[in-house]
Amino acid sequence: MRQTSQISKLTSLRAGFAVLSIFALIGVSGLAIAADAAPAAPAAEAKPAAPGKTKVDPVVGETLYSNGDPTRGVVACITCHGPKGQSAIGTWPKLSAQHAAYTSRQLKSFKEGVRANAIMMGMAAALTDQDMQNISAYLAQQQPSQGMAQNKETIELGQSIYRGGIAAKGVPACAACHSPNGAGIPAQYPLLGGQWADYSNSQLMSFREGTRKNIQMNTIAAKLSDAEMKAVADYMAGLH
Ligand code: HEC
Ligand code: HEC
Repeated sequence: MRQTSQISKLTSLRAGFAVLSIFALIGVSGLAIAADAAPAAPAAEAKPAAPGKTKVDPVVGETLYSNGDPTRGVVACITCHGPKGQSAIGTWPKLSAQHAAYTSRQLKSFKEGVRANAIMMGMAAALTDQDMQNISAYLAQQQPSQGMAQNKETIELGQSIYRGGIAAKGVPACAACHSPNGAGIPAQYPLLGGQWADYSNSQLMSFREGTRKNIQMNTIAAKLSDAEMKAVADYMAGLH
């Protein structure tokens, strides 16, 4: 039922109809999918959540990422985030090669409602801590996605902000935390290189508005104009 209410929120998305039909398929053929996934199930069950320490298992994570788990209401992440975490459009962030600790932390924030996003709050609600760690470990092993800056006119501005910040406004260099090539620094600073510019830009806006909370990024984004955000987001899309 939760999925159904999520679906209604998807209609505004660009590829909403494609997703809807995929959800419809999942709904109708849920039993068939469960049967197909049967060989993987014993492996998952063979590793019960031992009290205290549990083993992080990227293989189990991959199965959940790619197939979801209709019995628990887990939607396949691949539907939006694409094969191996390489999504097809900027509405849905690329997740490949992202630091596992960062990905897990975001999923937890969605589940707890600290990071407010209607779609992902629904998706994360069905995940256990173990699921989050397994999926994050799987994604961290995938190749980073390559992208390209699209706007020739703003590349120079984007690059200068990324590498040197904006001294006059007290904006620090993004490279200081996210590293010169955009790979980030585990586990605090996420990978940004190759990310869709639309997504990066939307996150900078959320940080500026305070709807996404992180003390460092809230302070930094508050000092950036729309044009500066766009320029640096576009530059980062081509960074690797
Ligand atoms: C219906 C589409 C959809 C599905 C299915 C979906 N997501 Fe998302 N995901 C999104 C959107 C949209 C965002 C951007 C949210 C925002 O703007 O804050 C997002 C963001 C994320 C982020 C944050 C990325 C970052 O760089 O901070 C993670 C992690 C994530 N999703 C993981 C998952 C996992 C794991 C699953 C499967 C259990 C999943 N998603 C299923 C649409 C989806
Ligand atoms: C002092 C360290 C620091 C600096 C400098 C910094 N960031 Fe960040 N940034 C962070 C942290 C920490 C996060 C993760 C926030 C979270 O956990 O939600 C982040 C997250 C982000 C995200 C969200 C990534 C995602 O996948 O959702 C974007 C986009 C971003 N930063 C862009 C920038 C840009 C552009 C600059 C330069 C103008 C910059 N950052 C400078 C620390 C920094």
